[in-house]
Amino acid sequence: MIHARGLTKTFGDVEAVRGVDLDVAQGEIVGFLGPNGAGKTTTLRMLTTLLRPTSGTATVAGCDLVADPVGVRRRIGYVAQGGMVGPYTQVGDELELQARLYGMRRSEARERVAALLEKLDLRGVEQRTVMAMSGGQKRRVDIAMGLLHRPGLLFLDEPTTGLDPQSRANLWDHVRRLREQDGVTIFLTTHYLEEADALCDRVVIIDHGRIVTSGTPAELKAAHGAATLDEVFLALTGHGLREGAAA
Ligand SMILES: Nc1ncnc2c1ncn2[C@@H]1O[C@H](COP(=O)(O)OP(=O)(O)O)[C@@H](O)[C@H]1O
Ligand SMILES: [Mg+2]
Repeated sequence: MIHARGLTKTFGDVEAVRGVDLDVAQGEIVGFLGPNGAGKTTTLRMLTTLLRPTSGTATVAGCDLVADPVGVRRRIGYVAQGGMVGPYTQVGDELELQARLYGMRRSEARERVAALLEKLDLRGVEQRTVMAMSGGQKRRVDIAMGLLHRPGLLFLDEPTTGLDPQSRANLWDHVRRLREQDGVTIFLTTHYLEEADALCDRVVIIDHGRIVTSGTPAELKAAHGAATLDEVFLALTGHGLREGAAA
């Protein structure tokens, strides 16, 4: 679903991403893990066509990133860090509007929105504004927004940052269900090591714009004789995830 080679991005003299190779297979839940400032969002924005790579190549959902960005956009969903739905709009209206922008007829848009709200345990929130929702509900509305056009590949940028532990665990269940029930491939970023461990089939660890290692959580822990991914990260980078934070 994702094959990237040598992706780089520089902003002036900041080398945000310094040669990232990635392979994500259909149906995987892959966690892109690293401290703040590691280059996660920049990589995601390149893979979703929002940012042109300085160099490197990638195919995403079967389409070439640079030659066919429209093809990529049709086939992927993207939920930005910090969310996408404005605080004052009614959730049902906003989702329906977006669905119609994807070319659905009104009746089809209504059905799609109702089905997604049902799927994400959001029945009855149509009339509410995002302001009047819990953090977990907001994140699920953002995810509904990213799924309107039935993408086979969903990118989630820090979907659980700022949520309480219970809401985070609930969101993990939803992510797993999307993969199990709809076969959606999921590529998500997180700076929570225990989240990557609990949720992801495979993790790719990035630090200072470079991939440090990748594998299943069990493989990585075994390879480093570590009990947790925190210890793996420390062994590989010489610093902890929090203290390594640049931003
Ligand atoms: N538009 C930009 N202009 C300049 N520097 C940027 C820009 N976007 C990101 N950066 C820098 O690139 C690095 C990686 O940022 P980012 O990809 O947002 O990291 P992460 O999502 O892992 O926290 C950071 O040093 C950040 O300050
Ligand atoms: Mg980020």
